Amino acid sequence: MSIETDVDPDDISTNSSEAPAFAEIVERRASRRSVLAGGMAVAAGFMTANRAGSSAAAADNPGASRRRKRANLLGYSAIPLGYGDEVEVPPGYNARAFIPWGTPILGSFPAFVPGGNTAAQQEEQVGMHHDGMHYFAGGPGPRGSERGLLVVNHEYTDEGYLHTGTMTAPAKASYTPEMVRKSQAAHGVSVVEIREENPGDWAVVRSRLNRRITANTPMSFSGPAAGSRLVRTDADPAGTTPRGTINNCSHGVTPWNTYLTCEENFNGYFRVDPGPYTPEDQALISRYGVGGDRNNWATHDDRFTVTADDANEPNRFGWVVEIDPFDPQSRPVKRTALGRVKHESAYVHTTKGGRVVVYTGDDQVNEYVYKFVSAGNWNSLLARGRSPLDEGTLYVARFNDDGSGTWLPLVHGTGGLTAENGFADQADVLVKTRMAASVLGATRMDRPEWVSVHPQTGMVYLTLTNNTSSAKQISAANPRKPNPWGHIIRWRERGGDHASTAFDWDLFLLAGQGRSSGDGSTIADEDAFGSPDGIWSDPDGRVWIQTDGTQPLGANDQMLAANPYVTDGQGAPEIKRFFTGVSGCEVTGVITTPDQRTMFVNIQHPGEGTPSQWPRDDGITTPRSATVVVTKEDGGVIGT
Ligand code: FEO
Ligand code: CA
Ligand code: CA
Ligand code: CA
Repeated sequence: MSIETDVDPDDISTNSSEAPAFAEIVERRASRRSVLAGGMAVAAGFMTANRAGSSAAAADNPGASRRRKRANLLGYSAIPLGYGDEVEVPPGYNARAFIPWGTPILGSFPAFVPGGNTAAQQEEQVGMHHDGMHYFAGGPGPRGSERGLLVVNHEYTDEGYLHTGTMTAPAKASYTPEMVRKSQAAHGVSVVEIREENPGDWAVVRSRLNRRITANTPMSFSGPAAGSRLVRTDADPAGTTPRGTINNCSHGVTPWNTYLTCEENFNGYFRVDPGPYTPEDQALISRYGVGGDRNNWATHDDRFTVTADDANEPNRFGWVVEIDPFDPQSRPVKRTALGRVKHESAYVHTTKGGRVVVYTGDDQVNEYVYKFVSAGNWNSLLARGRSPLDEGTLYVARFNDDGSGTWLPLVHGTGGLTAENGFADQADVLVKTRMAASVLGATRMDRPEWVSVHPQTGMVYLTLTNNTSSAKQISAANPRKPNPWGHIIRWRERGGDHASTAFDWDLFLLAGQGRSSGDGSTIADEDAFGSPDGIWSDPDGRVWIQTDGTQPLGANDQMLAANPYVTDGQGAPEIKRFFTGVSGCEVTGVITTPDQRTMFVNIQHPGEGTPSQWPRDDGITTPRSATVVVTKEDGGVIGT
């Protein structure tokens, strides 16, 4: 099953909780026009407040050169929408495919054979469907920009390309245990040491750090839900040693140089036996949408069959997993304090006092946005042998109609999170994060995807990819129904303190076919895009926006950059299209080397639903997800 060609599992609402009270307020008073006008007024206030509120002299009165740089952040020529089977970038830039699915990185370094590799070989090759990604600088060059570790998520598989090299998936009856193991090996995460041999020409290093993490890698639980009654299984009665990570979508990076990978649509891989189940187990199955026997894993791997007397294996997924990419022997750790949802993004921001704040969304229609705030300074916690990701408070967001917002703490014993309501302890709150957030009255959102904190303004940007569910409730923060094109919301934490429980938000933009189309989009016609997903603010302040889903005029998925310092005079930021993807792909995952002269961007699932042969490496015509290395011909900073 493919996400894009069949019913997208994220488009099904399993949130039947009562509407938060303010949704009614919105229905009474909101017209889109007034919401937008209010939003823009707040935006103007942000800019002023940011300048006035900063203590640094330079920020109080930015110098002429800084103003000029900010006005000219997007120095390249925008490119048109893309329709072909090649990646396009602006004049003066180069793009080349790198580490496609199947690239040998380990062990016997088995060569890629379309439809021909074994499961054991796939365990020594780069996985399928590249998504979230980070470059950990680790070698020579300006700030380690010529050698480092590329860590890449592998979200899911197209079973046809995986097993036969063609678009057609094998029949269910033809599946074997070997095929299931291969599919499981194509999931997870790759750690690959890479080196720039010539400008723009990167190679895989045969490094002892290279690693594949798959659906079967031994892991640990930590935090309040480790060992909880809800994560114990027959195979792991202590509930402390989960196995594997799947559907690894977006990601995060900690200041102590570890990688956070998010478990998104884990629910679809399980088969649910008829039961009957306890009301609690049934509620978990329903709210998290467990079921589907995706890729026929359950048929050949009992771990993925849920039964009434061993129902907890799905509860061992849906976490944020911490990986130390510099220690290939280290066990990945599922950090339960960050909650259990269909995580998309675990963006880490460090407060002035050294606390870490992790922003994370739950990518399903009508689900919520969260942040975790560590209990103390991360350095001191680590020095005492404790993880900053195990101790702290998880919050869920309420976006009020008036442009203010509140972070509601998911703390057992408060706000109705009590035994009477089904939460015996903090572990229950975390395993049942979605239910707990509903009790608190969080705001239902249009599929939260990636989060990024802007390095200069401190503004938090969140993509809301789309929502066409009939169960959607209009709110000021999610103003269009239906919302097939998505939007980007942003907020400023009160006092500039990311640990604050109050914030002020506005709508950065509403995506779509462009202002003249009448679809409610706020962007210019030439900047048309839909289904924003990946988002990343680079060190200079460009906001890179990536898409996954329907694009205007049937175009391919794409990446654009926005300059939040410059408006186009009609209520949108300046935007320029930078990158267009290939047939059937999404564009996801973006990072540069520290010197910003190499950018890595992922093409995921080329050829899904629409034929593709990209990247055509070595004459291979089976489409393969891959990282694209983008460089500027003059060796300059990407985006200038
Ligand atoms: Fe895997 Fe929500 O995109
Ligand atoms: Ca995504
Ligand atoms: Ca996707
Ligand atoms: Ca998506």
